[in-house]
Order: sequence, then C-alpha cells, then structure tokens
Amino acid sequence: MAAERGTFGRMGFVLAAVGSAIGLGNIWKFPYITYANEGGSFVLVYLVAVALIGAPIMFAEILIGRRTQTNPVGAFGTLGAKLPGGRLWRLAGGLGVLTGFVLLSYYAVIAGWTVFYFGKGIGWSINGFDPDGGTTLGDSFGAFLANGPLQILFHGIFVALTVGVVVLGVKEGIERVTKVLMPILAGILVLLLFNSLSMPGFGEALRFLFHVGPLDADAALEAVGHAFFTLSLGMGAMVTYGSYMSRKSSIPRSSLAICVLDTVVALAASMIMFSIIFSVPEAERATTFGRSSTILFTTLPQMFYGMALGRILAPLFYILVAFAALTSTISILEVVVSYLVDMRGWARQKAAPVVGIAVFALGIPCGLSLGASEELSGWRPLGDLAQGVFDTLDYTVSNWLLPIGGLLTAIFAGWLLSSKLTREEIEEGHGPFPLFAVWKFALRFIGPIAILWILWAVIQGRSFA
Ligand code: TRP
Repeated sequence: MAAERGTFGRMGFVLAAVGSAIGLGNIWKFPYITYANEGGSFVLVYLVAVALIGAPIMFAEILIGRRTQTNPVGAFGTLGAKLPGGRLWRLAGGLGVLTGFVLLSYYAVIAGWTVFYFGKGIGWSINGFDPDGGTTLGDSFGAFLANGPLQILFHGIFVALTVGVVVLGVKEGIERVTKVLMPILAGILVLLLFNSLSMPGFGEALRFLFHVGPLDADAALEAVGHAFFTLSLGMGAMVTYGSYMSRKSSIPRSSLAICVLDTVVALAASMIMFSIIFSVPEAERATTFGRSSTILFTTLPQMFYGMALGRILAPLFYILVAFAALTSTISILEVVVSYLVDMRGWARQKAAPVVGIAVFALGIPCGLSLGASEELSGWRPLGDLAQGVFDTLDYTVSNWLLPIGGLLTAIFAGWLLSSKLTREEIEEGHGPFPLFAVWKFALRFIGPIAILWILWAVIQGRSFA
C-alpha cells in the first residue's frame, strides 16, 4: 500500500506544504486584519505566535504523518491505540477530515472570486477601465456577491480545478502543479513588491506594519488564531502531507522553511496592498475605503484603476491570489481524499470527484448566503455570532474546529507520545536536534494555553472568524 500512496521529492514536500500554507489567509485575510488592528504590534504578536505556537504544532503534525505514513484518522488511530484514550484518538483525525470538508466548501467560494476578478482584470487590460457603468466599485462587488449563478459558477470552477489536480495523485498532480505554481507566485510577488517601492505610500506602509503601538487582548487573540490558520494547522493537512514526506527529509528544516516563507509572503502582500492604500491622501482614504474584509475586492481594484501600470498589475495580482488559493484548496481536499483512499479503499480517481461534488453542493448555500438568497443570508442558528450560511461555517471552523484540532494535536504529541518516539522521528533525516526540549516545552505549555485562551474568549461570545 505504501508504495501506491506516493511520496514527495524533497523539494516537492516543502513546495507543496508552503503552497498549502500560503493562501487567502496570507493575501486576503492577513492584510485586512492587520489594517483593522492598526498594524505594528498586531504584526509582532503574530510573528511571535508563528514561532512559539505555530511552528511547534507544525512539527507535531508532520511527525505524526510521517511516522504512520497514513491519513489523519489512521495516523491518530495507530499511534493512539496504546495510549490513554486508545482508538478514540481516531476521532481527532476524523474531526480534521470533517473540518477540511467544511472549510473547503466556503474557502472555494472566496477562491472563486479571485478567478472572477482575474477575468475582470484581463478585461481591463484589453478594454481599458470601465468603472462599472457609473456605479461605485463597492456596489459592483455587492452586486457580484448577490448574483447567485455567478457565485455558484466560480465556486464550481474552483472546485473543479482542485479536483483536477488531486485526482492525478501526489507526485503527478500535487507535486507537479505546486512546483510550477509556486515559482510563478514568487515571481509575481517580487514584481509587485518592486513596483510598490516606487509608490509614494511605501514608507508609510512600512511604518504602519512595523511601528509599535497599543494592542488590546482581542487583537492579540486574533493574531494567534490567524497564525494557526495561515500555517494550515489544526485539521490534519500537515499530517497528510507529512505522510507523503520522504524519510530522508528533515522535519525541522522543512517546518522552518514553511513558517518563514509563509510569513514573508503575508508581509509582502501587506506591503503591496498598503503601499497602494497609503499612496492615497489621508482624507480621501478615510472616506473612500472601509477597513473591511472586502478590501481586496473593492479598494484594490479601485486603486488599480488609478495606477499607471494598473492594466498590467491588476490581472497579475488576481492570478497570484488564485494560484495561492489553489495550492491551499488542493491540500484541504487531499485530507479528505487520503482518508477515503487509505481507510475506505476507494480509488483516488473516485474519491476526488465524489468529494468534489459534495464540496460543490455544500458550497452552493454558502455562495447564496452573501445576498442572493434572503433566507440563507439571514440564517442565524448561532444567534448574533454569525449571519448566513457562509459566516456560520467560517465561525465554526475558525473559532472552534481548528483550535480544538490544534489543541488535540498538541496534547497528543506533547503529553502522550513518548519523547523517544517523537525525538526519533524528528531526528530522522535531520540528525541530532538540540532544540528538542524547547520544542516539547512549547508544545506542552505555550500552545495549549494560548489555544485554551482563544476557546475561552470564544465561549465568552467573541469571534475571530
Ligand atoms: N493556510 C491556508 C491559507 O492561509 C488555508 C489552509 C489550507 C488551511 N489548508 C488548511 C487552513 C488547513 C487550516 C487548515 O489560506
């Protein structure tokens, strides 16, 4: 069986995992929550959270996967069998598979927007800008959200692209595609970053990102939660990719590369966006742009309108976001597919399309809950915590399922697995690992305490979705 599961080449693993980590979280979410939280200190807490909470849990996930060479359900089940809790640990893996399924269904809706905007960007390039027939851009985005058929169409396109890659397998599909997409992504990013150097707002953007200012507890919690999301932790994605990792690769070196590259891209994306935003005069900025989640689809296109190179940069930017999202959706789908292949004996060629259809189906109510359907948009089973199907699912995944998954992983690898086993696995392909005790301390204490703090705040009624 192991031979058929496939293995990543050395660079293949790092690129695929980096591709999973870098996604909408970096280019869409990080800049807007940084903007909303006044940059500076928020970024600092985020960096600390990546190092002290994210990286140790990433080690844990990868080592669980590589040790067992199987999907999260099998991995937790096998290793957990002789530990307190026994086979019940399968449920920790099962939670990951379920989370992946739900996350993919709404993540692919937003990912679909990037394809739509890429198309729009191409349209601008060819035809020049038409500021949407006189309506403001915010309105046209609102109209796009409320257009049910378009939402479903682009969601469907994105799910189909994802399935198309995953169906080809670990090496022939995931590795091959990420090996092509990631360098292109890096190239576009460097190009855009280079362009922002010459913008008047560059200095201000830099200051905004790195100045130290006041920070409230909620913002700190949001930074911690985001560190988690952006590194693709808490639902077995890294367990799954770890299961395809070669025993000759180093877990510490790979994890470091993933964390660093993911962070660099988040900061670069923010520099690009803030350079554009801060190039607009203060007064105008305050009245024109909200600090909201839609900044990427309202503010930014508006900015491209006014830029000399906007016609070239706009489509480039949106294809960048689309590629980043695709390498993430691939990893989320792979978690569910690997479960069906390893545990249920399904062929990959069957598992990927079947899950794709189910994800597409669940994405439909998500896509219609952004204005197209009054009923779905107003659905609020959680009271005031979230409104509409999309928000409700995002609330549940981001605030509950991912933190709980991360907590279980930290407890499992930090408290239950023997140091002998974890050390052996970490050192395999790496050699002696002098920071082992530091890793174990962070995994046992810092991670769980931070996650419990998040869950406590969520119980108090806060939301970090
Ligand atoms: N990390 C990705 C992003 O930043 C999203 C993602 C992919 C993810 N796989 C995941 C998040 C697994 C949590 C768990 O956009």
